[in-house]
Amino acid sequence: MKHITFILGVIAGSMLLISCNSDREQATGDSGFAEVSEAKIDSLINQMTLDEKIDLIHASSSFTSGGVPRLDIPELVFSDGPHGVRHEHGRGWYALEDADDEATYLPVGISLASTWNKDLGYDYGEVLGNEAKQRGKNVLLGPGINIIRSPLNGRNFEYLSEDPFLTGAMGVGYVQGLQAQGVAACPKHYTANNQETDRHNIDALISKRALHEIYLPAFRDVVQDGGAWSIMGAYNKVNGQYTTHHEYLNNVVLKGDWEYDGVVLSDWASVKDTREALLYGTDIEMGTELLRDFNNPVYDEFYLANPAKEMIENGEIDEQLVDEKVRRVLRLMHRTTALTDHGPGKRNVEEHQQKALEVAREGIVLLKNDEMLPIDRTEVKTLAVIGHNANRRFAGRGGSSQVNAFYEITPLEGIRNLVGEDVEVVFAEGYEPYYDESLFRGEGGDAASQSRENRQDVELARTANEDLMQEAVNIAEEADAVIFVGGWIHGHEGMPWGQGTYDAEARDKLNLKLIFGQEDLIRQINSVNDRTAVVLMGGSNVEMENWLPDTPAYLHAWYPGMEGGTAIAEILFGEVNPSGKLPMTFANSHEDYPSHSIGEFPGDGTVDYAEDIYVGYRYFDTQNKDVLFPFGFGLSYTTFEFSNLQVSKQEDRVTVQTTVTNTGDREGAEVVQVYVHHKDPSVERPIRELKGFEKVQLDPGASATVTIELDESAFMYYHPENLEWVLESGSYEVQVGNSSRDIKMREEVVW
Ligand code: BGC
Repeated sequence: MKHITFILGVIAGSMLLISCNSDREQATGDSGFAEVSEAKIDSLINQMTLDEKIDLIHASSSFTSGGVPRLDIPELVFSDGPHGVRHEHGRGWYALEDADDEATYLPVGISLASTWNKDLGYDYGEVLGNEAKQRGKNVLLGPGINIIRSPLNGRNFEYLSEDPFLTGAMGVGYVQGLQAQGVAACPKHYTANNQETDRHNIDALISKRALHEIYLPAFRDVVQDGGAWSIMGAYNKVNGQYTTHHEYLNNVVLKGDWEYDGVVLSDWASVKDTREALLYGTDIEMGTELLRDFNNPVYDEFYLANPAKEMIENGEIDEQLVDEKVRRVLRLMHRTTALTDHGPGKRNVEEHQQKALEVAREGIVLLKNDEMLPIDRTEVKTLAVIGHNANRRFAGRGGSSQVNAFYEITPLEGIRNLVGEDVEVVFAEGYEPYYDESLFRGEGGDAASQSRENRQDVELARTANEDLMQEAVNIAEEADAVIFVGGWIHGHEGMPWGQGTYDAEARDKLNLKLIFGQEDLIRQINSVNDRTAVVLMGGSNVEMENWLPDTPAYLHAWYPGMEGGTAIAEILFGEVNPSGKLPMTFANSHEDYPSHSIGEFPGDGTVDYAEDIYVGYRYFDTQNKDVLFPFGFGLSYTTFEFSNLQVSKQEDRVTVQTTVTNTGDREGAEVVQVYVHHKDPSVERPIRELKGFEKVQLDPGASATVTIELDESAFMYYHPENLEWVLESGSYEVQVGNSSRDIKMREEVVW
């Protein structure tokens, strides 16, 4: 389903820096450029023994599944992860010591979504595809497209948004850019993997309506519009059945309604039952659980190995079910580098670093600016840079998404590089990470996902370090301006094994309180220097009421990748005008989110999604609840005006057209966001739902006409009893704005 086409014209003023990616879509087509011969696949299957077929449907090492050497069918080679090709494991479970595996470390998924720039989604995928191909990988395990349901989920940084449309739109570009290199995308984790606590067993109780309106659409988009060649099942259950072998999700929806012809890959050890995996759509089983002894793997004992063979041999299951899985595996091999030559790929090249920089520049979100930014470097002689995160490297952390970065520029380095000799930069760490079990929830880190750097136990202070704090306050007092860089940390560094994880696998946050004494530190800095800009890292927001009112400027930088420090410095000093927009609502505390105030998080055995379709702004806006920063919000150093909204309806489509003018005095980019609202629905519906967006870059004084087309699916809802999509007749409002709480114009349209 496609909601948007994009036409852009310049009405007045100078050049418009926008490019459409229609040529790119044509290059990849719906199912990719490699035409697969089904007859050839059938003939291969006919030549295979049952043992050989079984080899193709389960792991043969940590990141390969089996091949058939007799028929020249290679193993399939997988690699994490969503924002960079992970370090090498060889066939085992630990990072190889001397591998040539340095890679481009892109800003994390939520940064990409914050750009609201679909072209960058494609470019991001293209970088990953080239690097994966150069490293001999056939399938890259990304993008992570689970919906951000609670800000406490430890993997939100890997995901994109609380909104299914934004997630789908950015995910489609990623998948197409990646697969254009001949490397399969593997969108994950299908589906409703919205927490890490008890992730292997939790049963998410979700209505069919919420599944279809919130948790499934992005997967549908990457399958139908992106043409994804593989998809990864999740660990959790949905409504009583494990998602990796879920009859409804896999057989009815994905392979049935959506006509998906690719592979359903398990998550690592997410298969829990041979019979269900055979019957309900799992095509390849990967895993860790049955290894028992890391040095002595027992892949033959996987659910889709000997136990599956026995079930077929004793007639319990029809062999055709295995043939169907093998058919999908072979199709994937033909589409990808496994069996088709797609050229050499490239890695750690300048253009990839440039893409990492572009995503960081556009993904950082300026949330508050009381005339402090940009900093004029001719007016600042001494600049205090404070905070552990100002000089921390993040790439090698966070669980399976860790990357052995070719390099990583920290904010401190980025600032020093930019100001050169002009400004004296004084650094103080201010606080240090410490381990406090009471701050975490969940089962702890995954031993198998430790990088080489992380395998050390370091004794650390158990409370905030007063000396570091005092030193920081002293330099803040002397400085002309302060940049504080803090927030969450990412991964296990310096912590007892598997502990101390915030934004990482297998742990959720307990609340949004700023950790390691940072709140106190920011308050003290604010009290001695009223020119303090706060830059926060992390896969979510934090509580801010105790420091934000006295803080003149605040930027949210997520984890901005290998060029993140450069981008942060460029924005602080005005070399780049910020244009990121929040892909999730920032509310005061986690308790304000509907997953906590109405539904459950993290539940106990089961987790009730009682908030139903009211996730994120759908809830906050419909209920008119206060938030700190709304969905879609982000400031610029220039100003924009929206005018001239025209909404016209053709037979099966609505065309929305509006003019955006840069009314300030510097170049900048704005995101036109189109929301839809049914005025008098027969079933309750959110007050607004995002159905289209486009980012426009404008010189000062320039205007552009943005045209966004909505097809009828943009106006539909999923009927809770009839269990089908319905286009209800009646009067709708098309709302156009630059955040969900700043609707600038509305027009009615009648279906
Ligand atoms: C994660 C996946 C990852 C896989 C392989 C699992 O624990 O959930 O996202 O791709 O491991 O590392």
